[in-house]
Amino acid sequence: MQLDRFIQLNTPYSRQRVRCLLAEGRVTVAGHVVRDGSVEVDRFIPISLDNQCLQAAQAYYLMLHKPAGVVSATQHPEHQTVIDLIPEELRQGLHLAGRLDLKTTGLLLLTNDGQWSRRITQPSSKIAKVYRVTTQDEVAVEAEAVFRQGIYFGYEDITTQPAELQRLDRYHSRLTLYEGRYHQVKRMFGYFDNEVTELHRERVGELTLDPDLLPGEFRPLSVAEVALF
Ligand code: URA
Repeated sequence: MQLDRFIQLNTPYSRQRVRCLLAEGRVTVAGHVVRDGSVEVDRFIPISLDNQCLQAAQAYYLMLHKPAGVVSATQHPEHQTVIDLIPEELRQGLHLAGRLDLKTTGLLLLTNDGQWSRRITQPSSKIAKVYRVTTQDEVAVEAEAVFRQGIYFGYEDITTQPAELQRLDRYHSRLTLYEGRYHQVKRMFGYFDNEVTELHRERVGELTLDPDLLPGEFRPLSVAEVALF
């Protein structure tokens, strides 16, 4: 990407203002003042404006145990966000590789590497997301077959991809989805008029939530874990 475009995307400034900032020598790339906005900049080459970091030199890959009551967003007018749980020095460019609802707990992945997060979130990747579901009422006997066949969602005019339901006991089950529609788990159980009272994501692909992480805690992924996607 060109430097001027990068600055425009990562600041509130107009194209013209970005040109001025560059001409005034306020932008550095890898520690050097760069005035030419047409230079190509790679991911993870450090870029600063007025000594404020716009792009970090390093890629960060984190797993967070999302607690209930925290929003899966970078900003929110009312609620604490998952980004607020991460120290400031790691926040630059950090974004979510997938989302969980406000009350949902469990595995959430964060990174500043857009290519990596796209591999996880793009619908064609069909990565398994495994949820532990607690319901108000008993799980219907036919739910397994219905979820495997797919449920028609009128709003999007789609039928859900085959999903795997494992009944753990009368009120608990494990559901594996290969897509991520809005409120998908709740809507699938809603088909049976059964309210989801607790929802917890245990796994994304082959990556399982670290049992040592308490709600609200995070840790960096290992090199092997990053390579899973
Ligand atoms: N499905 C839901 O309904 N909620 C989530 O948070 C994730 C999947």
